[in-house]
Amino acid sequence: MRILIVGASGTVGQAVTSALSSQHEIVKAGRSHGEFRVDILDIGKVRSLFKEVGTIDAVVCTAGNVHFGPLATMSAEKLWIGLQDKLMGQINLVLAGQTYLTDGGSFTLTTGSLSQIPIREASSASMVDGALESFVRAAAIELPRGLRINAVSPTILQESMDAFGHYFHGYEPVPASRVALAYVRSIEGAQTGEVYKVW
Ligand SMILES: NC(=O)c1ccc[n+]([C@@H]2O[C@H](COP(=O)([O-])OP(=O)(O)OC[C@H]3O[C@@H](n4cnc5c(N)ncnc54)[C@H](OP(=O)(O)O)[C@@H]3O)[C@@H](O)[C@H]2O)c1
Repeated sequence: MRILIVGASGTVGQAVTSALSSQHEIVKAGRSHGEFRVDILDIGKVRSLFKEVGTIDAVVCTAGNVHFGPLATMSAEKLWIGLQDKLMGQINLVLAGQTYLTDGGSFTLTTGSLSQIPIREASSASMVDGALESFVRAAAIELPRGLRINAVSPTILQESMDAFGHYFHGYEPVPASRVALAYVRSIEGAQTGEVYKVW
């Protein structure tokens, strides 16, 4: 398969790339790394990405930022970061990419365990991850031509413990290589509307 990975240079993206690259042709994209450059917040740039990349069998998104901070100081502007970035950024890829996918092709988006297991200072992440998972379930029943859409929902990665581990005391981190297997199942399997939990 020819697989577009947006966010291929990141912690999750690198692991997904290495899990898929022996069996598939990988097309890497990112904001500042990769053969193709795109800012997923800008639907115009996402449309241009697909025009440049052309027909593709699977699209993976391992990009998306949210603001972490206490609810007491959360603002609409800070919540808006996650809505525009991790939520709409990934949805922009689905909106613009659906006509470029071959029959039976798939989207695999990235959410996170915070949709189900809230922790302090992560209300934005929980909100966005939950919305994305609902979008995936809804889009799955409408996509034509056997197109599929799933999400992978990891908990904190071992590789991200230095940066984010202080938020996840008491939670067992998972290796990126294990998270990557869920993306392989989503792409090579038959499921649609699924949220693959890796925690
Ligand atoms: N790491 C974890 O423990 C963990 C756990 C659960 C869920 N997640 C979720 O997994 C996703 C990836 O996390 P990560 O830790 O791998 O992040 P990361 O290491 O910071 O990598 C982010 C990747 O996304 C790309 N990117 C960022 N903003 C972009 C934009 N506007 N347009 C296009 N590409 C953009 C970056 O590209 P450039 O480098 O080219 O800018 C980079 O390749 C996030 O949504 C995160 O919430 C992560």
